[in-house]
Amino acid sequence: MAPQPNDTRDTFASTLGAFTATVGSAIGLGNIWKFPYLTGSNGGAAFVLTYLLAVALVGVPVMVVEHVIGRRMRLDAVRAYRKVVPHQPYWQVIGWAGLASAVLIMAFYTDVAGWVFAYVWKSAAAAVAGRTLAPQEFGALASGTVEPIAWQLGVLVLTTGIIAAGVSQGIEKVTKALMPLLFALLLVCDVRALTLPGSTAGVAYLFRPDLSKLSGAVLLSALGLAFFKLSLGMGTMTTYGSYLPDRVRIVPNAARVALADTAISLLAGLAIFPAVFAFGGTPAGGPGLLFATIPLIFSKMPLGGLFTVVFFVLTAIATIGAMVSLIEVPVAFLVEKGHVRRPVAAALTGAAMFALGVTATLSQSPVLSGVKLFGKSFFDLYDFLSSNVLLPVGGLAIAVVGGWLVSRTEFMQELDKGYAGVPWHGRAVYAFVRYVAPGLILLILLSSLGAIGP
Ligand code: PHE
Repeated sequence: MAPQPNDTRDTFASTLGAFTATVGSAIGLGNIWKFPYLTGSNGGAAFVLTYLLAVALVGVPVMVVEHVIGRRMRLDAVRAYRKVVPHQPYWQVIGWAGLASAVLIMAFYTDVAGWVFAYVWKSAAAAVAGRTLAPQEFGALASGTVEPIAWQLGVLVLTTGIIAAGVSQGIEKVTKALMPLLFALLLVCDVRALTLPGSTAGVAYLFRPDLSKLSGAVLLSALGLAFFKLSLGMGTMTTYGSYLPDRVRIVPNAARVALADTAISLLAGLAIFPAVFAFGGTPAGGPGLLFATIPLIFSKMPLGGLFTVVFFVLTAIATIGAMVSLIEVPVAFLVEKGHVRRPVAAALTGAAMFALGVTATLSQSPVLSGVKLFGKSFFDLYDFLSSNVLLPVGGLAIAVVGGWLVSRTEFMQELDKGYAGVPWHGRAVYAFVRYVAPGLILLILLSSLGAIGP
């Protein structure tokens, strides 16, 4: 590793800004949509437990490496990994794979984000008309053609517009102050869901693990979710690391981000599963779980229609923070490497994401629902390829680079920044980076291939 001069680079304006922006990337549809839906389709608590372990043992160490490398190199992800190990430029493949992951993720993410924006509109219309959105209305939206594509396009135009405006202004302003509101609203949902008759089965579903539900595939999904959730394994957090000011303490920042993010996911789970059981629904409801359940929960409350609207507005905002960080990966690269102007880079990236995104959206509609690749629809394929293949493999490579190939002294210097002395946790974190994280990723990848274990 070699430090780069950083005087010309835009950095987050404050420590709090760095935290909120990182949290802003982490918190998104992953918490509110994906965590509940994957938990439901992977059998509940055993998945949750594996997921929590994956966040702590793998996610936090990999985030630390990404921030260390990003801040040290002060470059976009491709160039950072090209230069981080002297004479081994091929690690830039991490950055390239990250660009591919960003586009793949956005292809289905913008579809789901479009549903969220559509639900802001639909729940407002329903509230005015004094009715509740029925679960079937989600099916009608998701399997449509023009309607979901129009929402998807709207989402992309909005997010690329924010990106075109620049790093600190664009990202920090959007994410600051709104997460606490989302947190508060989820708490309201939880209280309502947990006091519904029959809700305790949902709590048991989330927290009483049945270890016989574990398999290589479940382990890999949990690991993939940990990467997806914390925006790891693809250079997003490396890029964000390159905007971190020196006074930010990398380890506590990563730990706080992981805690806040996990808390939001668990709160979402605690709203959804108790309600699913109370209303006699099925936990394995698939991608529509969130959209079918939330309006029902709120319909049992005074001012429920209004709360539903606010809920979807806040989710939409959380989603923007995450999407901004996804688009930022290719944009940072195009701007710094391709010397393209920022708005042009944002437009090009948005266009590529839209082109692929349309295939994900149409794969839910009769137009493309018959087309399967490797037995999966385009939507599921992009999701699987990114979360269960590219991110874990990218994370493994990042952990190997951080733990084995860059100078330990320089790595430790980054961890020490922001402290007067040497913090106590440095060595422990380094051991996780070097042994625990890569070891676990490798074990899970092997077990999902059926080579070993459950
Ligand atoms: N972490 C985001 C979420 O959970 C998604 C994301 C993945 C963002 C990868 C950036 C990079 O919604």
